[in-house]
Amino acid sequence: MKNCIVVTGGAGFIGSNFVNEWVKHGLGKVINLDKLTYAGNLENLAEIQHNPDHVFVHADIGDREAVQKLLAAHQPRAVVNFAAESHVDRSIHGPGEFIETNVVGTFHLLEEVRAYWGALGATDKTQFRFLHVSTDEVYGSLSATDPAFKETNAYEPNSPYSASKAASDHLVRAYHHTYGLPTLTTNCSNNYGPYHFPEKLIPLVIHNALQGKPLPIYGNGSNVRDWLYVTDHCSAIRRVLEDGTVGETYNIGGWNEKTNLDVVHTLCDILDQEQPKAQGSYRDQITFVVDRPGHDQRYAIDATKIERELGWKPAETFETGIHKTVKWYLAHPQWVNNITSGEYKNWVSQNYKERGEELA
Ligand code: NAD
Ligand code: DAU
Repeated sequence: MKNCIVVTGGAGFIGSNFVNEWVKHGLGKVINLDKLTYAGNLENLAEIQHNPDHVFVHADIGDREAVQKLLAAHQPRAVVNFAAESHVDRSIHGPGEFIETNVVGTFHLLEEVRAYWGALGATDKTQFRFLHVSTDEVYGSLSATDPAFKETNAYEPNSPYSASKAASDHLVRAYHHTYGLPTLTTNCSNNYGPYHFPEKLIPLVIHNALQGKPLPIYGNGSNVRDWLYVTDHCSAIRRVLEDGTVGETYNIGGWNEKTNLDVVHTLCDILDQEQPKAQGSYRDQITFVVDRPGHDQRYAIDATKIERELGWKPAETFETGIHKTVKWYLAHPQWVNNITSGEYKNWVSQNYKERGEELA
């Protein structure tokens, strides 16, 4: 094996942050396999496009031949699987792609990784890792008084997205239990930060605010999410990859529970300071729209295990991370503009028209 890792989905939001950091920190070679769906964006990797430690491969995780060739050619010491359909609302409109990539794609990837790993020599076999990046949504929804999700919570997914991620987590678990594949699974809370695709709450609100468009809040805005700055998620994955116990799962979170309304108010207040409107506040643009079907009320991660066993802690608080995020979007208007065309524009038109708003 070489000091090389394969990352799947490395042109998306979290994957590109992970790959950029890996290459910039000189941690070794990264083979970045991505299908470049609407969510994959090579612009996220512009800073490392000429770096010999970054090799981009345009392929589907479900393409067995492509994966087999790539593993044979590069002899990686680990595979980190970010590739997925990731947007809950899209999974409600069209679950098929979620089953195809998150379940069937993960299965094909596991099969090829199992074959590659099975043929390694004894030492390499012990050292190899398959790290599967998953979500807190597999645990379902909490009431206001429930304790935060622990690794021992039962899986109770509620959306086609979370059900497909839960299925993939179960496959990973089974490949460890049955075949001995050295797997690790991480379940993280909501991420935010640079390169976040503007269909998700935080970048959507920043973008719409600056465009003078409505800021759509599903239902009454009381749903709670637990926010983690994206590079803290990446540092946690690196810790688990290097020192996590094979076969285990690790919850990752920043102890930052906020209602959606609080998050949007915070964004408006920062924008009011950084780029004030001629008149009034960005809060005036807040609009309550029809709720997400089956909308989970609250997610919260208990990150005690990763803190205790691997000494990981987030570097950012919500306050520092959200300021950095707004400043990044203000400094990169072209990145968003390049996205807000074509397929993404069609999605905005469809999603919000059904909620009684014209946002496109
Ligand atoms: P994203 O939608 O921004 O990016 C997904 C990437 O995967 C894209 O580059 C896309 O082109 C690629 N991809 C999709 N299908 C593929 C396929 N069949 N083969 C190869 N590549 C494919 O997603 P994200 O927000 O960066 O999330 C990455 C991972 O982290 C996902 O597995 C997601 O479930 C998980 N996760 C996300 C969050 C979050 O808040 N965004 C939190 C916890 C866990
Ligand atoms: O919890 C981890 C999950 O976080 C990841 O597994 C998913 O991949 C990721 O997309 C994210 O899922 P959410 O559904 O929580 O993220 P989203 O940004 O879509 O929504 C955040 C909250 O904001 C949620 O309660 C729905 C609400 N919302 C969202 C949008 C897009 C609104 O109120 N208005 C909106 O326009």
